[in-house]
Amino acid sequence: MNNKKDVKKLELSFVESKDGSHTLLRHDINETYHSHNGAIQESLWVFIDKGLNYLKEQNYTSIKILEVGFGTGLNAVLAYQFAKKNEIKIEYISLEPFPVPLEITEKLNYTDFLGGESEAIFNQLHQVSWEEKHQISNYFSIKKVESTLEDYKGSFESQSKLNYFDCIFYDAFAPSKQAEVWQLSNLQKAFDFTKENGVLVTYCAQGQFKRDLKAIGWKLESLDGAPPKREMIRATKISS
Ligand SMILES: C[S@@+](CC[C@H](N)C(=O)[O-])C[C@H]1O[C@@H](n2cnc3c(N)ncnc32)[C@H](O)[C@@H]1O
Repeated sequence: MNNKKDVKKLELSFVESKDGSHTLLRHDINETYHSHNGAIQESLWVFIDKGLNYLKEQNYTSIKILEVGFGTGLNAVLAYQFAKKNEIKIEYISLEPFPVPLEITEKLNYTDFLGGESEAIFNQLHQVSWEEKHQISNYFSIKKVESTLEDYKGSFESQSKLNYFDCIFYDAFAPSKQAEVWQLSNLQKAFDFTKENGVLVTYCAQGQFKRDLKAIGWKLESLDGAPPKREMIRATKISS
């Protein structure tokens, strides 16, 4: 769709979602970064609970995450909190072709709800440089990569990311707005990058998306979506 230069000029504005937490509206596609029904509520439900808590229940003591769309950094700060609370080591790699400017991220109100040290951590997650790994705490490291999933090669310090990640946070804009992110080759790439028994979680439950996941070999679970959404998807990589 839009090339990078055009998008960088795009207008963003703040929207308060139903749980009081902000989301951003991207004017060119008239799409928000989260559900209007609650940005924090949705992130906690889809990515932290159905993704990270699920892996915790399978006794994971370390989790490697690939996020498709760093955006506001909300999933990242929630994952940081999860890592700390559960003493689970998280390596977080996040892709974002269109970083949100700091003058906007510093006005987001997430840390009003998250308490503790979240404000310092949230700011740090935004301020650390791109393309390098940063150890934020004993339990959490982050590397932000300014790239689309399409362009991401997954090689880092000469290590391939094939069969590497335990959890993919697939948090792109909806297929109706950004079809290219949901294309089959991206879903195949996510599969190839995921370790055996690893999962992809997403708020999306669109029909073609589900058929594409199945065709690639993902095993699908339809779960209740973040209220009031009916459905979300967790897909597991099981090679038979
Ligand atoms: C629905 S927003 C969610 C972002 C984020 N997880 C958050 O909590 O704010 C989708 C994000 O995906 C990014 N994005 C757009 N195209 C992408 C692509 N081809 N690959 C990876 N990310 C992309 C957007 O710029 C946007 O930040």
